[in-house]
Amino acid sequence: MENKKFYITTPIYYPSDKLHIGHTYCTVATDAMARYKRLTGCDVLFLTGTDEHGQKIEDKAKEAGVTPKEFVDRIVEGPRGVKDLWKLMNISNDRFIRTTDGYHVSAIQKIFKKMYEKGDIYKGRYVGKYCKPCESFWTESQLVDGKCPDCGREVQNAEEEAYFFRLSKYADKIQHLLEDTDFLEPRSRVNEMVNNFIKPGLEDLCVSRTSFTWGVPVDFDPGHVVYVWVDALFNYTTALGFLNDQYDDYDKYWPADVHFVGKEIVRFHSIIWPAMLMSMDMPLPKKVFGHGWLLLDGGKMSKSKGNVVDPYILAEKFGVDALRFFLLRTFPFGSDGNFSNESLINTINVDLANDLGNLLSRTVSMVGKYFGGTLPEARQADALDEELISLASGLRGRYEEQMEHYAFQNALAEVFKVIGRANKYIDENAPWVLAKDMEANGTRLATVMYNLLEVLRISAVLLTPFMPGSAKEILRQIGACEACSTWESAAQYGSLRGDVTVVRGDNLFPRVDAAKALEELDKAAEEAKKAALPDLEVEPQLTEQVDFNTFCKSDFRAVKVKDCQPVKKSNKLLRFTLDDGTGTDRQILSGIAMYYKPEELVGKTLVAIVNLPPRKMMGLESNGMLISAVHTEKGEERLNLLMIDDKIPAGAKMC
Ligand code: MSP
Repeated sequence: MENKKFYITTPIYYPSDKLHIGHTYCTVATDAMARYKRLTGCDVLFLTGTDEHGQKIEDKAKEAGVTPKEFVDRIVEGPRGVKDLWKLMNISNDRFIRTTDGYHVSAIQKIFKKMYEKGDIYKGRYVGKYCKPCESFWTESQLVDGKCPDCGREVQNAEEEAYFFRLSKYADKIQHLLEDTDFLEPRSRVNEMVNNFIKPGLEDLCVSRTSFTWGVPVDFDPGHVVYVWVDALFNYTTALGFLNDQYDDYDKYWPADVHFVGKEIVRFHSIIWPAMLMSMDMPLPKKVFGHGWLLLDGGKMSKSKGNVVDPYILAEKFGVDALRFFLLRTFPFGSDGNFSNESLINTINVDLANDLGNLLSRTVSMVGKYFGGTLPEARQADALDEELISLASGLRGRYEEQMEHYAFQNALAEVFKVIGRANKYIDENAPWVLAKDMEANGTRLATVMYNLLEVLRISAVLLTPFMPGSAKEILRQIGACEACSTWESAAQYGSLRGDVTVVRGDNLFPRVDAAKALEELDKAAEEAKKAALPDLEVEPQLTEQVDFNTFCKSDFRAVKVKDCQPVKKSNKLLRFTLDDGTGTDRQILSGIAMYYKPEELVGKTLVAIVNLPPRKMMGLESNGMLISAVHTEKGEERLNLLMIDDKIPAGAKMC
């Protein structure tokens, strides 16, 4: 019999900045699902990748002084880039698409043309608002307090000739899809989509841009590039070989079984995506699951807020499996969750070190101590065994029920209920008491040990999708053979051979010293924040123009420093006595004491604006202002007084 196909995707990530723990969350969840499906025997295709076009990337590349392709290459392929992160996190994607890949670009051109020829794409003029960070178009009425309703950032005016997709034509069909099928989950997201976007009236969608060039060119109309979301969404099909020769998996795997996406991009996946597929007469994905966000201090993580959590730091400190486990054990997948280092450490200490780690190390060491590592085959059952055996025997079924609904947290809770019960079973049976009289109790003791090993075996099989490395090591330590490490065997209590031999190994989940780890993490975050700051930053130039006559009203003169003194009781102010060429000394106060020692400025030729109205500071009058250059280096403001050639006489006018 052919294995059941399962095609699962993550969103493809914008390589505009380094990925953070929020991105890692979605990819780890997708990986756990893909591994679970493989475990159950499905023929899985797991796709991830990067969404590399758009105005945001073009602008960032310009800022960095490189081409957009060089810019994205560095973030995708470079050290500690996207691919490196997935490797570190043990992500088992079968394919990685980059939307700059040639096969994808030419397929997008064909797709765009098909929808155009069908009459679903037409030319018009876009007048509205655009949010660059989200690459989203908005109408005035959709804005919240004049800002982007998704990310709350400033939007910009956009007016240009553009192509539009007839989204309105598909409104009824989409409403039916959302309301009358279980296409979109969790159900709460359906109401959000219908009430916020469909009921107010679906407008046609602008699907090309002319004001920048970093995108897939519309081949029949030079100057237009395909809107980045059209380019991005179809990745799920081009990566299978749709309208290209790179792959040949479209017929086998499409439609996707599930797209995992964050809640802010549910709109694109549950409205725009199915409408475009309908236009292309293509089957719709079976499900879109909109997961929640990982929040930090109650708010969304973002680089601009400087509050992103670096998965590299956490994985290197606590181990990849502990981090993967924490993400899926702690937060319900469909809702938002508050990330904190404290809860990460707590989960490691309670679930992994205390419950699972202890169960493993106690059991393996007791089998070693009491039986030299190999159990005798004889058994002696007791009423004390019944509850544990019944819980462990039904565990796979309860776990599967949760996994099939993407309820990772609940699936893990089921596993840990049994692990907790097994720890209690040790106390109830007190093996150390039984061991005092091996002749009388040896068979009973072997039975207790066997039951513990069985709980560990079934748990480890079911933990494999979450902690692949650790689960494998548990199975090795308890002496589980290949046949008793399978999905089938997880439903067969008693699969482990009667005379099993255990192998002592390292402590898999050492306890974390919370206070020490928190301090180190704070320090690392501080350093990372500093390192992420631009080396050098200057204020953006003003775009508002000033007319020449207004400019000429400012009187800039060369001045010579005759004396410079700190101002009493002020840490900031220096008092300058200046020769301004008029024959009368001029006094200017300047808040630059943290940058210069007064004595080093005496004799220097500076520039001052001399026709500002006088101003009193700390009881002293300042007549004008010294001109300085200001910039920021690694987040710290730097200031340099403008010093000019000493040949220039006092009073010389700057013009
Ligand atoms: N490029 C688009 C997706 C196109 S899919 C055809 C995009 N990229 S993204 O890099 O901005 O985001 C990728 C995914 O990461 C989204 O699903 C987003 O919700 C998720 N996350 C980003 N920050 C997150 C958290 N803090 N928490 C959870 N997921 C978050 O959108």
